[in-house]
Amino acid sequence: MDKKVIELLNDQINKEFYSAYLYLDIANFFNDLDLDGFANWYNIQAQEERDHALLFLRYLQSNGIKVELKAIDKPDKAFVNPIDPLYAGAEHERYVTDLIHNIYDAAYSVKDFRTMQFLDWFVKEQGEEEENADKLIAKFKLFGDDPKSLYLLDQELAARVYTAPSLTI
Ligand code: FEO
Repeated sequence: MDKKVIELLNDQINKEFYSAYLYLDIANFFNDLDLDGFANWYNIQAQEERDHALLFLRYLQSNGIKVELKAIDKPDKAFVNPIDPLYAGAEHERYVTDLIHNIYDAAYSVKDFRTMQFLDWFVKEQGEEEENADKLIAKFKLFGDDPKSLYLLDQELAARVYTAPSLTI
């Protein structure tokens, strides 16, 4: 496997764990506001990100590559209003999409078709993640200012359940 592709895939383990950390931080913020549904939604988001990290780890291991785990940064975003983390989440997903596309680009340039095929799942997943983040912002803008509607939205988000990723390695 190409050195640059390995390096990018290894770095992505860290980026996905950071994503989990960021979403846990957001869940923590909502927990403090007693918006348990929002906290649930972001806790599940964090679980999904941990899954993503492990998929990158297993993919490297399955190719006989020794993985190097690096330190995870402290989430440093300051949230004031409940909509702030929603914007931070959407912005972060776009950043992650760029990272995935960058790895894809590196794999493409060395004709690493196996890695491209592995990344296909993530390309699709990122599309869904961006859509979900944007929809949440749209809903919050519609209902967030009205306490009764915010309560109902919180109830809706409380219903989200964790499902394991459809990709296995
Ligand atoms: Fe693993 Fe939300 O990107």
